[in-house]
Amino acid sequence: MKRDGALLSLWQNKIPEFQPVNGQTEGKVFDVMVVGGGITGLTTALHLQRSGKSCLVAEAYHLCFGTTGGTTAHLNTFFDTSYDKIQKNFGEEDAQLVARAANDAMDLFRANIETYAIKCGFEEKDGYLFSQDEAQTAELDKIYQASLKANAEVSITERIPIDISFQKAIVYHDQAQLHPTQYVYGLARAFEEAGGIILQDCRVQDCKGDEILEVRTTKGTMKAAHLIWATHIPPGVNVLHFRCAPYRSYALAVQLKDGAYPENLAYDMVDPYHYYRTQEVDGIKYLIAGGEDHKTAHVKNTEECFRKLEAHVRTHFHVEEVSFKWSSQYFEPSDGLAYIGHLPGNPNRVFVATGFGGNGMTYSHIAAILLTELINTGQSKYEKLFHPGRLKPIAGFSNFIKEGADVVAQFIGKKLSKEKLTELADLAPGEARLVKYEGASLALYKDEQGILHAVNPTCTHVKCTVDWNSAEKSWDCPCHGARYSPDGKVLTGPAGKDLEVVEIFSLMEEK
Ligand code: FES
Repeated sequence: MKRDGALLSLWQNKIPEFQPVNGQTEGKVFDVMVVGGGITGLTTALHLQRSGKSCLVAEAYHLCFGTTGGTTAHLNTFFDTSYDKIQKNFGEEDAQLVARAANDAMDLFRANIETYAIKCGFEEKDGYLFSQDEAQTAELDKIYQASLKANAEVSITERIPIDISFQKAIVYHDQAQLHPTQYVYGLARAFEEAGGIILQDCRVQDCKGDEILEVRTTKGTMKAAHLIWATHIPPGVNVLHFRCAPYRSYALAVQLKDGAYPENLAYDMVDPYHYYRTQEVDGIKYLIAGGEDHKTAHVKNTEECFRKLEAHVRTHFHVEEVSFKWSSQYFEPSDGLAYIGHLPGNPNRVFVATGFGGNGMTYSHIAAILLTELINTGQSKYEKLFHPGRLKPIAGFSNFIKEGADVVAQFIGKKLSKEKLTELADLAPGEARLVKYEGASLALYKDEQGILHAVNPTCTHVKCTVDWNSAEKSWDCPCHGARYSPDGKVLTGPAGKDLEVVEIFSLMEEK
């Protein structure tokens, strides 16, 4: 199974690719077309299909190609945006509603696993949040009080599941973990058994219409009464591109010498924070540790993030070997809560689920519940809370928008001579670089066979300049998170078009 990055995640290892069995779409008008074959897309599609709607899932590559194949799969009833911040920004009642939504999401996980007998290493665990200095302790106290007010199942604890010194800790009860690709494949099987259709290698380009939407895809035009973008961020240019910022997060799966694997989930309060858990896969236990998050394409040397994370893990655990390391992308919402519901600026029947921050597992299931209710009944108790059109007057919001507006530079021209390129870049195989060429930027990559590839580094979304992600070998856009393979193919939206290829010719051969 491939992913949107060069590194192999724990969830890709030895997992045979899912093969859809239902593929006939000709002449059909679907009740709902879901774009994106990750956990959000499949959970929502299955939920809708089981409620009586006919659903089609279209995935540009294959199931779990995106962030679902690179998550660390923590299932939480608390969020990166802590309950005290939710209370401050949205009020006490809404904070309670968020906690209720999280509990509903956990119930849906349990129900799916039981109903469809999905074998995915699902385990209920407690989640420990701990402070390590005075400032963190003061913050933890606020989080604890706010969590109680929100009716989250939380208490103070004297111990944490890892051997790291701490000042104070709280524990959220009834959290969980699982193997995400095994879970999504289980959902996909159940979806097909219920009559749903999955189309892989099918990129959705756009949709138009009112009662019946005409959806243009790379496999032809399809028809549906509703469309859901479950692609992390929708394509096109939308207000949500200015309210969500793309981030990268790093993860390691390591084996320990002393078998001291944490029995529960744990989170420190460093900024950016680290998180830890254990998962057994094919009879082998792994400590999964994550962190070192940063805005996409805002760190020059992404391999350095892995080095820092590994050094941190080795400080606290007796590492036998680092078995897997990988990174993945998520979108941080400007006011702290996900955007789920009608996609602003689009026909009424077009929906979106994005801005999940680091809580994609929980939000995926909140999205499934909310969108199923909206489509089936026209309303949901969570509709207003997560409405994508809301605009909260949050401090720092203008900065948030400004951060996304990075330098625009364009390369003009489509042909380059090999001889000139040699002067421009001295790259080793597997390396890439942005170089200046006649005053403009050019993205160069030398593949493992020594062949040079050149692309225009101007992102095809709205023209920011991509930068090289050395760890995952991709061209990443700092503005709204589009990502491209070394030779310019779209890996992740919102871009819908590949980077422009710059032809390399030889002056010698032309003579
Ligand atoms: Fe928007 Fe690149 S993703 S400009």
